[in-house]
Amino acid sequence: MVSRFTNLIDLNDMPVDWWNKVVSLGAEIADDPEKYAHECDGKIMATLFYEPSTRTQMSFQAAMLKLGGTIIGFDNPATSSVAKGENLKDTTKIVSNYADIMIMRHPSEGSAKAAALTADCPIINAGDGGHLHPTQTLTDLLTLSKEKGRLEDLTIGLCGDLKNGRTVHSLCKALSCCRGNRFVLISTPELRLPFYIKDILTVNNCEYKEVNSIEEAIGSLDVLYMTRIQRERFSSPEEYEKQKDVYCLDRAKMAKAKPDLCVLHPLPRVDEIAIEVDDDPRALYFKQAKYGMYVRMALILTVLKNEYPTVLLEGKVHKSVCCTNKNCITQKESYIPKSFRGSGDTLECEYCDERVLRRH
Ligand code: NCD
Repeated sequence: MVSRFTNLIDLNDMPVDWWNKVVSLGAEIADDPEKYAHECDGKIMATLFYEPSTRTQMSFQAAMLKLGGTIIGFDNPATSSVAKGENLKDTTKIVSNYADIMIMRHPSEGSAKAAALTADCPIINAGDGGHLHPTQTLTDLLTLSKEKGRLEDLTIGLCGDLKNGRTVHSLCKALSCCRGNRFVLISTPELRLPFYIKDILTVNNCEYKEVNSIEEAIGSLDVLYMTRIQRERFSSPEEYEKQKDVYCLDRAKMAKAKPDLCVLHPLPRVDEIAIEVDDDPRALYFKQAKYGMYVRMALILTVLKNEYPTVLLEGKVHKSVCCTNKNCITQKESYIPKSFRGSGDTLECEYCDERVLRRH
């Protein structure tokens, strides 16, 4: 199924050239934001945040206001009709008739794609559960191209909750499309990167290795992408307790890093980067958050041009097969067509990418 709109659900739905153009436009806007002050006069952007957010929500809102548009939306579903039991389809269908573009964050994986199936305006995925966060990746790419000068031939360390961190998943998928990148995946064995992302690294011929500590990797890195342990995605508080506080980037560790290392973090930080690191010129995470606003301005402009209708579903609906990921949107909203890629015994859910074994 092809949408009438340019939606951003997953960056990899788009050609690399498309997102490179968004990043380049973001760089131009960062240099002269005033020039774009009336590009969205008369346009309305809705932000539907079913999960907490500071940067993503506010940077999108600031982006639209800077473009001359206006904003509507909610950041607490408890104060909307969601609290009365309204389903995702009805809420997003209605709001899409009030707005020209909709930004959505939701705790279920695949929710943005599900919303895009029936919405009457473009949808941008601002984070769907532990799955993807493409607009954070655009932010990261703009930061790297501005601060590092390139997106290729980099040794990139990613540290923390690689299992549940949606920013990590989207970033690995995107950077694996750029030539010569190598990945060092720093996590505990319990929080390793999901297999389906590691398979993408392999298919794209990217070298990667998995290590347990920052110390054994830091000296070789061009980029260190720190992330927090995603407490809200753990099955129990005990499981979270075992994983928290394992990693902390501090001055002593920074002393072993290259002089031109870029330290990034999507934020919020909990305690995985010591405050003392903030003054190090290699700590770029606050700048990164600012770039997020400019790249989102570029994204809003690009999506509203509607030059690239997005393919939403390309697989097949299997009525007798259910996705086994309990956090998948198809498990929460029963009306969604259960569509899978592939054939044979292993299918892949088109919403959350979970691999599902087909029983005969
Ligand atoms: C991230 C997110 O929501 O996934 N934050 C953000 O959007 N900048 C990272 C996180 O919550 O850890």
